[in-house]
Amino acid sequence: MDRIRLIGGNELNGEIPISGAKNAALPLMIASLLTDEPLVLQNVPRLADVKQLERILENHGVDIAVHGRRRGEEEGVGQRMTFLAADIVDTTAPYELVSKMRASFWVIGPLLARCHEARVSLPGGCAIGTRPVDLFLYGLKELGAEIDIDDGYVVAKAPKGGLVGAHIRFPKVSVGATHTLLMAASLARGTTVLENAAQEPEITNVAECLVAMGAKISGIGTRTLTIEGVERLHGATVDVIPDRIETGTFAMAAAMTGGNVLLKGARPEHLQSALDILAMTGVDLTVEPRGLRVHRNGNGIQSVDVETDPFPGFPTDLQAQFMALMTMSSGTSHIRETIFENRYMHVAELVRFGADITVDGQMATVRGKPQLKGAQVMATDLRASVSLVIAGLAAKGETIVNRIYHLDRGFERLEDKLSRCGAEIERVAG
Ligand code: EPU
Repeated sequence: MDRIRLIGGNELNGEIPISGAKNAALPLMIASLLTDEPLVLQNVPRLADVKQLERILENHGVDIAVHGRRRGEEEGVGQRMTFLAADIVDTTAPYELVSKMRASFWVIGPLLARCHEARVSLPGGCAIGTRPVDLFLYGLKELGAEIDIDDGYVVAKAPKGGLVGAHIRFPKVSVGATHTLLMAASLARGTTVLENAAQEPEITNVAECLVAMGAKISGIGTRTLTIEGVERLHGATVDVIPDRIETGTFAMAAAMTGGNVLLKGARPEHLQSALDILAMTGVDLTVEPRGLRVHRNGNGIQSVDVETDPFPGFPTDLQAQFMALMTMSSGTSHIRETIFENRYMHVAELVRFGADITVDGQMATVRGKPQLKGAQVMATDLRASVSLVIAGLAAKGETIVNRIYHLDRGFERLEDKLSRCGAEIERVAG
């Protein structure tokens, strides 16, 4: 298995282009199942998770084409891809495919809405928690679906004539359940109201894509979405938004190493709560026409307390990276993870750098130290892995990050982007 080797201590200076958001690209690709016309997505990141979802969609019968580079296009911009689900030949999403990536469970929404049936493997738990699907099943039942669990599969059938609109109030905010119900309701008969819906920028990206495909949705960007079902959806061309988690990750890396970095194409309004917290740590943030500038010139890092929350709160997907930053702060920081019950897998690894962290239930207490020391580390999920990379960038000496396939799931050209800004980082073939 490949590893990443890095020598810490260099400041980051230069420009980093922000890629398309993984967590928007995945549901946008899934939305292609709703129509027999082509859905063209622009700025799709080159990631292992995107490849994995391509396999799943191909199994349902989706034709996928990647377009070549266009004249005048900058090197490294996201892919332009066409998804054509002219004929869905199989409404089963098998265990072998779904168990590799949880978001693939979301195909249940469009399959059920368009084909009136779906058989989708339960995704199972993962490194960050049990991650149940009760909210999906509750919502789909409200739309009239009959649901059975059989041999590890959710077997769902729409009533005669298809799904019917309903008033659904989620007892808890869920990104995946909101995506899934939004897609299903777009092709249901009548009006659906989704209350206590997620309002992450990725939800807005998908809702706007559905509108471009002919869906009737109001309340986009708020906690209540109202969907008036239509009989059919058509093709569209849609841009994937820039990745706010990648943006926040590089901002924290620059805060940790010092230096001056322009995050090209970043949309600061998509991670305002994280930027507010970063500013409190003593980092200068400037919004420029081409993106977001992050600057720290040798001043210390102040400790700040943080609690993760659904958007617009501080994202759980930046919790590990923020913790890495706090390990070098001048005080004590309390971090509370409220979204996932087991998202502290990086703590034991950060401690290998010499960090002082203790965990009690949902709360981690980080006592800052002036300097981390390089170490051999490995992580069991994507965001935890990248927190180890940014800790290594600031640590003294050599760091080896093992098991980096997690990084390839969600960060495009990570070593390349960092080394162009002065980091000493390389991939070592396993
Ligand atoms: N939950 C339930 N029942 C459900 C669904 C969710 O109890 O039926 C719980 C979850 O167990 C969790 C909470 O609700 O405790 C929130 O989970 P949510 O459904 O919002 O998460 P998700 O849709 O599975 C997406 C992202 C995650 C991100 C979370 C929270 C994608 C592909 N994944 O997951 O991203 O952490 O929202 O913002 O969009 C990552 O990119 O590394 C990642 C894990």
